[in-house]
Formats: sequence, structure tokens, C-alpha cells
Amino acid sequence: MKALVINGPNLNMLGIREPGIYGTDSYETLVSICQDSADELGFDGIEVFQSNHEGTIVDRIQEAYGTVDGIVINPAAYTHTSIAILDALKAVGIPAVEVHISAVEEREAFRQVSYAGMACFARVSGEGLAGYAHALEILSEQLRKQD
Ligand code: DQA
Repeated sequence: MKALVINGPNLNMLGIREPGIYGTDSYETLVSICQDSADELGFDGIEVFQSNHEGTIVDRIQEAYGTVDGIVINPAAYTHTSIAILDALKAVGIPAVEVHISAVEEREAFRQVSYAGMACFARVSGEGLAGYAHALEILSEQLRKQD
């Protein structure tokens, strides 16, 4: 059971970026949370990937085909704009959970649309970095059900 965590633009700036919204923990902390949680949940492997570029994210999703069992994705700002990421998730058909650090539902109107979310079977938002552990838990439950 292999998991891929994908993070979109500006998430590498965690800790520096708008700490009132995204907190003071760094991107490295996010990576550790994902790795620890994947170990606890019994995943055989996890990759935590980040890119500021839409096409690079599309490439990484395509490369996951046949090699990854489940995806946790925070497309960040591309959540609200990217049909390409939505189409890539649909193309590979890998079970995916959408995660957001902030409570996007309670923020600006332009954050209310989620294209990537249309290809995800669950969403976690507003739980801070712990939301990644929660998303991995939801993903592992789903993957075990499928087996
Ligand atoms: C975010 C929410 C998005 O609206 C925003 O553009 C981000 C981060 C979150 O994790 O809360 O970059 O995805």
C-alpha cells in the first residue's frame, strides 16, 4: 500500500506564509507528520511531493499511475482554478483525498470552488497540519475496504 501526498504552490513557505491562517510549523514538519502517520497506518511507502507548477503536478499524478495506491492532495491555489489537475486525477483513477490546512469553506468566495475535489472521495479542511494525518487515515480505510 503506497501513498503519495501532493502539495501545490506556496506550501513550501509554511511557517513564513500568513501564519495567522496556516500556522507557524514549517513544510518539514508537514513532511514528518505525513511520514509518521503513514508508518502508523501501515503504508509500505509514502512520498511527499511539492511543486509550485501546475504542469509538474499533472506530471507527478500521471507518473503515479500503476505505482501508487492512493493520493492525498492539497492543490493549494490550483484547487480553485485547475481543470488540468482534476482531469489528471480522473485519468489515473487513483483514490484521492483532498486536504486543506485552512477552513476554505469559511473563507473568500473564490475559494469555494474546488475542481480537484470533484475527483476526490473525501475532503479534510480546517484541521491544520494534523489534517494530513486525518486524510491519510481516511485513505487507508478506503484502500483496506477495496482489497
Ligand atoms: C489551501 C487553501 C487555498 O485556498 C490556498 O490557496 C492555499 C492553501 C489550504 O491548505 O488551506 O494555498 O489549500
